[in-house]
Formats: sequence, structure tokens, C-alpha cells
Amino acid sequence: MFPERRLRRLRKRNLQPLFRETRLDVSDLVMPLFFDETIEAAVPIESMPGQYRHPIREAGAVANRLEKAGIRAVLLFGIPVEKDGGAHSAYAENGVVQQAVAGIKAACPLMTVITDVCACEYTDHGHCGIIGETCSGEIDLLNDPSLALMQKIAVSHARAGADMVAPSCMLDGMVQAIRTALDGSGFSEVPIMSYSTKFASALYGPFREAAASGYSFGDRTTYQMDPANAREAFRESAEDAAEGADVLMVKPAGLYLDVLASVRELGLPVAAYQVSGEYAMLKAAGERGWIDERRCALESLTCIRRAGADLIITYYAEDVARWLNEEQ
Ligand code: PBG
Ligand code: ZN
Repeated sequence: MFPERRLRRLRKRNLQPLFRETRLDVSDLVMPLFFDETIEAAVPIESMPGQYRHPIREAGAVANRLEKAGIRAVLLFGIPVEKDGGAHSAYAENGVVQQAVAGIKAACPLMTVITDVCACEYTDHGHCGIIGETCSGEIDLLNDPSLALMQKIAVSHARAGADMVAPSCMLDGMVQAIRTALDGSGFSEVPIMSYSTKFASALYGPFREAAASGYSFGDRTTYQMDPANAREAFRESAEDAAEGADVLMVKPAGLYLDVLASVRELGLPVAAYQVSGEYAMLKAAGERGWIDERRCALESLTCIRRAGADLIITYYAEDVARWLNEEQ
């Protein structure tokens, strides 16, 4: 008899749901939010249709809306009034993220608030920390002086009530430095979700418009990773695990599923960030009718889960919540 083995037996329509290995669950999604200290009403982000910069006073209302949709966690970014070489407004007690955290926790105490810990939205040059001359005479991001800055930012977020901090600067030693600072300030229970393997990706373009965090010279390739490197990608996450990270992250997500699968082997929970450019590509092609946006977005997110993500940070979070509801 030919064929002897028939995999299609289990693909009968009524059997398919029984054998589905991977499912999206709205409680695994994290919604990124932008809060802008300079505006009074929400402003649409042109390169990310459906996404907005929100004024601080809307923080509670936005969180309530997301909670009603079933979203349990948000990741906050801030756009400050003032930028300078030392990113001072990033750790101000009444800074934009600090106020947004407080607003969300007051209105919506069960919402998990994660904050992005980085300086690029707060520096006048747009790089992710302190710039200066290195020992080899180049102008570049200075590692150790920037660590001290990240410590101050992380502690100020924890003071404002953040449930978890997420350093995204790709500095060496950032997890250990932040862990020490949090522990020393009475926040030993606040976990660190490290952007442990973050690539110097062209897919961050729309985000830089959204967060006004583009750089005025150079690029980020002396701190973010070369997309060509898989072994180094694993090592970056392994180092952060050794430094005490509670959650690891791979970013971007969709083009880096091999990295995601390898980082999962470290045994820590893993987050994947479906970034602004991934969202923008799906949106743009969908708007033109060239792809089915909903099916493509769900396929992309399902494959990110299959490759090993426990959590997915995605601008589609609210849409997915609605889509999953409609399927039931
Ligand atoms: C800040 C930061 C960036 C993103 C998250 N945190 C931008 C960058 O590194 O240039 C990108 C997120 C996205 O594209 O959706 N360091
Ligand atoms: Zn940054």
C-alpha cells in the first residue's frame, strides 16, 4: 500500500484544533505606549497607523481601555520637553514616564507597567547614553559613565511604581549595574527584563519618528548587534542571564526566530519584540490590499511564539485581543 504514512489524516478540519501546538493568548502580549510631555491631545504616528503619542493625562484612560480588552501589560516610552547631553529628564521625579507610570497605576492597579530604560529619547544627540571621547580617541557612547545614568533612570522608574524595568541601551554590564542600584534602593523585588539581544536593525525607523529618538550623528552599530551574528547573539543573552536578568529579550522578532530559539535554551523566560518596522510593513501592505493584514499579523505572532517567545511585545496587542475574541 502507498503511501504508508499519511500525515493528512490528522489534518481533517475537525481534528485540526486538537493538534495545534502553539496558540496566541492575550495574556502573553505586551502593548508599547508612547507618552509625550509636550502635547495635550493624542497625536497619530504617521508611519504606524493606529498608534498614537498620548498626553500624560490620558495614561489612566488608555490603560483602562486596554485592560477591558484583556491586555495585562504595557511597555512605556516617553517624549520629554527637555533634552540635553546628560539625559537629565530621564530620571526626573516628575519626568514623563514617571508621571505616566503613576497615572496608570492609580487608575488601573492590576495593569503590569514595564518601563523602557534608555537615554535616546532624552539626549540632545539621540544616542542611548553619555557621549564622549573613548581611549582610542573616537567620539562614541561611553559605556561605564552611561551605566551610572541607567542606574538613576531605573531607580526613578521603580520609585514611580513600575512593576518591571527593561534596559534597552545594549551597554556591557547594564543588568548587573541596574540590579545593584535597584537592590541598594529598596527595590530588590523589581524584576529586570533585559533587551539582552538587540540588533542594530533598520526596522526601528518608524519608532524613531514615534519617540523622536533618532540620532544626530553616527549610528547605533557600536552598541547594538550586527544582524549577521548568531553566536554573539546567544552570548549577549547568556551574559545578561549571568548578570541576573529575570527575563531575556530578542529584538526585532520576526526576522530573528533562529536567535529566539537559541536564547530559549538558556532557560529564562524570553520576550520577543515585534518592532515598529515589522508593524509598519504589515500595515502598509494590508492597506494596499496586497496582503491580508489580519492573517499575516496572526501568522507572524504565532510563529514568534512557536520559535520560543513566552511574551510578545507588539503594537498589534489590542487588535489581537479583538481578533481572538471574534474567533471564539
Ligand atoms: C530605545 C528603543 C528603540 C526601540 C525600543 N527601545 C529604538 C532604538 O534602539 O533605536 C525600538 C522599538 C521599535 O522599533 O518598535 N533604545
Ligand atoms: Zn536607546
